[in-house]
Amino acid sequence: HSSEGGLLSFDLVAEAQRVKLGDRDANLLTYNGQVPGPRLEAKPGDTVQIRFTNRLNQPTNLHYHGLHIPPTGTGDNVFLEIPPGESHTYEFQIPPNHPAGTFWYHPHYHGLVAEQLFGGLAGLFIVRGDLDEVPEIKTAQEEFLVLKDYALDRSGNIPDPGHMAQMTGRIGDLLTVNGRFNPTLEIPQGGLLRLRLLNASTSRFFALSLEDHPFYLIATDGGAIAAPVEMNELVLAPGERVEVLVQGDREPGQYRLVNQPFNPAQGMMGRGMMGGGSMGGGMMGGSQRQSTTETIATLTYNGTTEPLPLPDQLIAIEPLPETQTTRQFSLNHGMGTGMGMVFLINGQAFDHNRIDTQVRLNTVEDWEIVNTGTMAHPFHVHTNKFQVISHNGQPVPYAAWKDVVSVSPGESVRLRMSFRDYVGKTVYHCHVLDHEDRGMMGILDIQ
Ligand code: C2O
Ligand code: CU
Ligand code: CU
Repeated sequence: HSSEGGLLSFDLVAEAQRVKLGDRDANLLTYNGQVPGPRLEAKPGDTVQIRFTNRLNQPTNLHYHGLHIPPTGTGDNVFLEIPPGESHTYEFQIPPNHPAGTFWYHPHYHGLVAEQLFGGLAGLFIVRGDLDEVPEIKTAQEEFLVLKDYALDRSGNIPDPGHMAQMTGRIGDLLTVNGRFNPTLEIPQGGLLRLRLLNASTSRFFALSLEDHPFYLIATDGGAIAAPVEMNELVLAPGERVEVLVQGDREPGQYRLVNQPFNPAQGMMGRGMMGGGSMGGGMMGGSQRQSTTETIATLTYNGTTEPLPLPDQLIAIEPLPETQTTRQFSLNHGMGTGMGMVFLINGQAFDHNRIDTQVRLNTVEDWEIVNTGTMAHPFHVHTNKFQVISHNGQPVPYAAWKDVVSVSPGESVRLRMSFRDYVGKTVYHCHVLDHEDRGMMGILDIQ
């Protein structure tokens, strides 16, 4: 097919609205009156124009999480401030060689990101391409699952986050999939279902399993992996995405998609690791927080025929060359002066006037992320995706493109990144967005 692409225009309006969340009335922050916001789709080569209007009562902006597009100008510019009542037109090209994948958009105005995301501002941004052309994938039925927690008081307002939220980040006990409670998804006859999952929560981790059935992982944050990998549990840190295939049995049935209690303050040691680092097998003996086992969606299958086969091969993952350039990033927290906790990278809280890390375009670097604190930190980098090389010194079992990797207390993760195509200032940060708003972000300057 052609790589020329067309011009796609979208209108997005951020606005507080009274909406339905499942069967409840809720006062939330919406894009175009919806939670989650509208799903945007584009192809490699397309030029995307987003006419954005801020009808919130505070500044905001948009970030295109995971897209490899310019971090400057009318592109993925998170330093932009769009004041209340004002509009801005984003315009960027999805490069012709961009991988297909499950990306998303959300606000990125430092200091208000957690509040705005927790209020409901998030939507999917899908790039259609190579992975979607794999024959078995093409025949599978596709479902998008935006996972997100909410908290509501009796009048349907989001309550004050309270003191604990400074540490754990704000966490709600209403678990939603596409703004609904426990929706039913049908596996088609001859069933092969492709689930495309995003954890759009501000701080909550999801630990998912499917009753009596495995998942077959086909894609991570940055797109396809080389071949499906069978998994029984998926841990999704805030900001992470996965795509999995689910096969129906020969008999009709119902399989519940359940979320297990998960304690992000506990180390991940002893869990089977995968490329993304935060997904593993086995249950975690979580003692605190993040709810009890809960069904978040139900898959139903009426089929009686043999399920469709799984693909053998997906999309090869380009190995990144070894490099001599290694940087260290240590994640921790401390007491701020008067305003509670601060979260730090290499001992420093975010300062928009400081360049923390300078790299050269067209180079490859290894980043060693060490968590010396007491909470898990999903480390995220804008503009370029990375591969996790090792987790606590252990090589990962297979290559995967990632843009978020969760690092538990006491752990260290080595990731490898190639800085391509775009110069300019961008950021890396913890995707527990209360941590990001409280300082756990740094500026990366690519020159
Ligand atoms: Cu999804 Cu900088 O974030
Ligand atoms: Cu991002
Ligand atoms: Cu964090």
